[in-house]
Amino acid sequence: MTITFIMDGKEVTAQDGQTLLDVARENGIDIPTICFHEATTANAVCRICVVEVEGQRVLQPSCIVKAATNMKVQTRSEKVIRARKTILEMLAATMDLSEAVEIQTMMKEYGASDGRFPDAEKRLSDVKDDNPMYIRDYSKCLLCWRCVQVCADDAQYTFAINFDGRGYETQIGTFFDKAIPETSCVLCGQCVGVCPTGALKPKREYLLEQGKTPAEISVMNTGKKQRKPR
Ligand code: SF4
Ligand code: FES
Repeated sequence: MTITFIMDGKEVTAQDGQTLLDVARENGIDIPTICFHEATTANAVCRICVVEVEGQRVLQPSCIVKAATNMKVQTRSEKVIRARKTILEMLAATMDLSEAVEIQTMMKEYGASDGRFPDAEKRLSDVKDDNPMYIRDYSKCLLCWRCVQVCADDAQYTFAINFDGRGYETQIGTFFDKAIPETSCVLCGQCVGVCPTGALKPKREYLLEQGKTPAEISVMNTGKKQRKPR
């Protein structure tokens, strides 16, 4: 069934089941996303994709709200811009965004300040370096859930990581905080591939950043010295 509705003052069409984000993208309308990823089930945890829907009291997350006949949607109203800016400022106040390049770009676009909430506590966490493939730095984690979903029934069916803790203490972790080699993780790397902030990073990249040379990394990985090129 084809649905017709208004988006940013223009008549648009959608197929039954399409989300507002789908329709916006098809029509060249830019809506920012963070927790949304094509490979995972949308769960609307970050709220950066909110839009204003006439008749709705609160802003709606476009990544999960389905298009409906006669809707009137605004994707860049003043209220929407203010909400997105505040979300970005709250993220900047509570986590390390130094490697979240897309979010930094959004901050510039929305004029978001990283000093709006000076009393907020930043999430701090030691880098977990417990396996040969990737490191986990949860001070850079925004709890978008993408890694948990690809590890679970969106892709890998391994269920090695999940949410841990409650409220502000919530973080991604393994069962009983076990080291990765003691979990069901098969080191597939899919979690690293979907992480938007650098909280999960290939070990090699991390070691190079720490100043190790490729030769030193090779010895660490294999226990053997790398042959000199002839
Ligand atoms: S580790 Fe990365 S992918 Fe996983 S929840 Fe945190 S930010 Fe998202
Ligand atoms: S992208 Fe829609 S809520 Fe995160």
